[in-house]
Amino acid sequence: MNTTTNRWSSNWVFVLAATGAAVGLGNIWKFPYITGENGGGAFVLLYLVCIVIVGLPLMMAEILLGRRGRQNPVATMKTLALEHKRSRCWCIIGVLGLLSSFLILSYYSVIAGWTLSYTVHAINGDFTNATPLAIIDLFQHFIASPWQLLAWHSLIMIVTIWVVSCGVQKGIERAVLGMFPIMVLLLLLLVGYAIKTGYFTAGLHFLLYPDFSMLGTQGALQALGHAFFTLSLATGSIMMYGAYLPSNASITKASIAIVTADTGVALLAGLAIFPIVFANHLTASAGPGLIFKTLPIAFGHMHYGRLWGTLFFIMLVLAAFTSTLALLEPCVAWFIERFHASRTRAAWIIGSGIWLLGIANALSFNRWEHIRWLGQTLFQLADHLTANLMLPLGGLLIALFVGWRLPTEVSLLELQLPYHNRLCRIWRLSMRYIAPIAIVFIFVKALEVL
Ligand code: TRP
Repeated sequence: MNTTTNRWSSNWVFVLAATGAAVGLGNIWKFPYITGENGGGAFVLLYLVCIVIVGLPLMMAEILLGRRGRQNPVATMKTLALEHKRSRCWCIIGVLGLLSSFLILSYYSVIAGWTLSYTVHAINGDFTNATPLAIIDLFQHFIASPWQLLAWHSLIMIVTIWVVSCGVQKGIERAVLGMFPIMVLLLLLLVGYAIKTGYFTAGLHFLLYPDFSMLGTQGALQALGHAFFTLSLATGSIMMYGAYLPSNASITKASIAIVTADTGVALLAGLAIFPIVFANHLTASAGPGLIFKTLPIAFGHMHYGRLWGTLFFIMLVLAAFTSTLALLEPCVAWFIERFHASRTRAAWIIGSGIWLLGIANALSFNRWEHIRWLGQTLFQLADHLTANLMLPLGGLLIALFVGWRLPTEVSLLELQLPYHNRLCRIWRLSMRYIAPIAIVFIFVKALEVL
């Protein structure tokens, strides 16, 4: 079955798969720690505003492009541009998307490997009664060992390749259907535990009380950038998943559902994590180590900490895994269509390329730590290059293409919205002005930081 005829078994499954793509390490690992670093409520409020005015409209645009083109992101963009007598150069949106997903997966898989390794540590009870120093040591030792990082990264890649090679319905769909509900259940259990710590209101207050004196320009920019990353926009993944969407599905409703679920999971993750952090008198602003250093310290000292720690890391593995599938799919679909290859062959060839690049990312934590450009390791560069440059650029181009180049009637036909509808007017306003201006703003600032 090729991309043009591949379909999700139902609209509902599409929403689940796209939500699985959006919900990942970005929600559970990155969101709590950048919220912690930026002082809480004010940052969360701004992030929510960005999600609504830029994220949601772009999500709708990307799905509609995908479903209209029904091919891999490069071919979709080329077909749509030529169909409406626009330059074929617009296929750059697809190319940028594929490059971003290739690059993101090469480091995402390394971090996903960490979560897998920490699941094993939690099961073995390695955090139980350990001193904070021992836990920090455990983390430092772990990332200093190239073989361990490589082994876990390889395992994640092999399973991802295998599932994608089984196809859209038999592979991705089944995996997401099995994993996502368990992930949400585990998250709710953890929130339940957080409520019992007695520090739930402290967590709630931290997340929701906006203190604007805590938010600087950098924080504001991070909020917009994270809105992009967390919704998986501009990597071709959402466009690709949209290409498999049945024609009668409502894109508007699906987008609202995906964005709400993604935001909900991020907030729930915050509500599960901060009370645990506060209950153990740890700091919220611990940075990227919040999950791998701070939380194990907390798990080591709480009642049934071994069980809760295990559940937490299993949840993180599942969340990461439904995202790695979405990151691999667009490149695989492109390879299948471009070279008339079988899905299995395409998945293994593309997956091996990503695995190879991932080795460089894994080594950048130890053996290749000294290889730096502008003071950053390969891993940091890959993260910066994708999140701060490629994704905003891709998003900007999508907004410009849909806002100014694709005939409005075509968009409205796909969105099944009448022309004078209020929602439709707001959506067009965002595509034409709000999203491009906001993106150019982060883009310029990100360039300054680099
Ligand atoms: N949204 C994912 C997360 O929050 C990360 C991500 C970015 C992603 N782009 C993607 C996942 C494309 C799948 C596909 O962790």
